[in-house]
Amino acid sequence: MAVWDSPEFDDHEQVCFFSEAKTGLRAIVAIHSTALGPAAGGTRFKAYDNEQLALDDALRLSRAMSYKSALAGMPIGGGKAVIVGDPSKLKTRELLHAFGRAIDRIGNVFATGEDVGISVADIETVNEVTPFVGGTSAGAGDPSVHTAIGVMHGLRAVLEHKFDRDSFRGVSVAIQGLGAVGWRVAERLHAAGAKLVVADIRADLVERAQRTFDADTTGVDRIHEAEVDIFAPCALGGVITERSVGEIKARAVAGAANNQLASPDAGAALMQRNILFAPDYVINAGGVISGLEAATRMPGRNRIELKPLEERLAAIYDRLSGIFHRARAEKRPPEVIAEHMARELIGR
Ligand code: NAI
Repeated sequence: MAVWDSPEFDDHEQVCFFSEAKTGLRAIVAIHSTALGPAAGGTRFKAYDNEQLALDDALRLSRAMSYKSALAGMPIGGGKAVIVGDPSKLKTRELLHAFGRAIDRIGNVFATGEDVGISVADIETVNEVTPFVGGTSAGAGDPSVHTAIGVMHGLRAVLEHKFDRDSFRGVSVAIQGLGAVGWRVAERLHAAGAKLVVADIRADLVERAQRTFDADTTGVDRIHEAEVDIFAPCALGGVITERSVGEIKARAVAGAANNQLASPDAGAALMQRNILFAPDYVINAGGVISGLEAATRMPGRNRIELKPLEERLAAIYDRLSGIFHRARAEKRPPEVIAEHMARELIGR
């Protein structure tokens, strides 16, 4: 397995491999940077086709966490854990405990929380053997609540910058994915008077959205083409490809999904078509921001004076606005500006 030669390797400080035959645990923790503080990042439990893909995911996602925390102004570094395997077959209390003991061994530099395949209940099980977890219901809870609030603040910045408006009334938004974050964003947008077009592979969620929000719907493979003002990817990564950019009718792309751009060229193509892109790790930082209190209470961590959570979430609006202005002034894509700013902050 290639570590230093992986295309996703970016001078990561530490990469740890954990295994336990008894429980079937195979986990990788990648720590990209601790320049700003001990790293934090969720745990993804997923059946990867091969080990290299799992490692590459950990390397890529941990770097994004460095950027996310740095741009959110947090004294936290970037890391990510992956547990390799099908959670529906492999996930047991014993395995989660084994994983927790592994996390405990590196608790001086890393703490974890939910991600794809890991629920609040799972994190609470991990928490039985290590204090180095966030996102328990006694702590910040399900991060998707705060991620959705943060996305709404980001959408306000998009609205102002691209549409010169300060209200969602009559603005149309296509939401791809009605899961934990997408549904909550839909709720808030609907309450603010926006018109919604939705798609999800789960027909029950789509039907519920039609009933609850009077939403229109379209096929999952066509949602990016919807005739709307804003396209909000809230399901999967890699949805913005050089090809799909040509099909987007919206004037802005802004949603919760991680790694929305399939390639840097896809971002450049968006800019060429004058479609504003909200860099994902800036607009979706609400979950991480909400976990900061818990992170500062972990053993050995510095206690710091924190602004109220609402204020820290609202700062996503200011940060995105700043990035958009700089992108316009420098005629460069917002994601390039954001990456530049993040790398500067972590001393890269
Ligand atoms: P989730 O798993 O609760 O929801 C995802 C939804 O997308 C599900 O309803 C699923 O059926 C749907 N979906 C899957 N494939 C689809 C497709 N091809 N087309 C349309 N819909 C599809 O996940 P969650 O927590 O809402 O996260 C959504 C995205 O936001 C993910 O990319 C995640 O990495 C990202 N994110 C989530 C955060 C959180 O706090 N939960 C924080 C930051 C990013």
